Amino acid sequence: MRQRIFAGNWKMNLNINDGVELVNRLKSIHTESLIIVCPPFTMLDAVSKAAKDSKVMVGAQNMHFEEKGAFTGEVSADMLIELGITHVIIGHSERRQYFAETDETVNKKTLYAISKGLIPIICVGESLQQREAGNAPEVVNRQVEAAINGVNTDKLIIAYEPIWAIGTGKTASPKDAGEVITGIRDTLRRLLGDKADDISILYGGSMNGSNVNELMEQKDIDGGLIGSASLSYEKFIQLF
Ligand code: PGA
Repeated sequence: MRQRIFAGNWKMNLNINDGVELVNRLKSIHTESLIIVCPPFTMLDAVSKAAKDSKVMVGAQNMHFEEKGAFTGEVSADMLIELGITHVIIGHSERRQYFAETDETVNKKTLYAISKGLIPIICVGESLQQREAGNAPEVVNRQVEAAINGVNTDKLIIAYEPIWAIGTGKTASPKDAGEVITGIRDTLRRLLGDKADDISILYGGSMNGSNVNELMEQKDIDGGLIGSASLSYEKFIQLF
């Protein structure tokens, strides 16, 4: 079933005390939406313990696609699972841009996460240049297709994040975001059949309390992947 989801991507922000306090406050919120927080690795243990037995889920911001071995600086799926982590962001545009992630590594990570029972939050999105050239739908659908190559499940989440809207205060217009996301749903339907109707597709890119309603009115937008507005309790709860 498509779920209304708001996932906070804390990126490289906050510290353990801030993270635990934020989750402790989020735990008492009554909402029909699924709330996920994605802290940096160093906070996962503490935040996951704080979220235990609550409805707040905890995700990681990345993982490696191999089981284990000589991969200095990397973290495996099993290591995340050991901490009670349920979700993992894969292929965020910052990972693609600064850490050389490609459609191929995104696909490997997606397949491996799914094989381990972690739910990947797969990020796709076009650059400003690609949008201005009118290529956004094509670029995004190609990324989706590459990411889920070999996947045969609905246990995944897609986040459409136009790169030019991330952290810039610029949001895609609800209509533009809605159209791209409907296109993603069509691609999922072509590749996964009816399973596509059970996959939540999120919008990300300067989503906040003032633009959330208009975005959520779009028929295929199921929620958000939120960066800056997820770092403050007051701002984050305005979304759900
Ligand atoms: P933003 O970040 O909400 O700060 O634009 C979104 C994201 O990168 O996931």
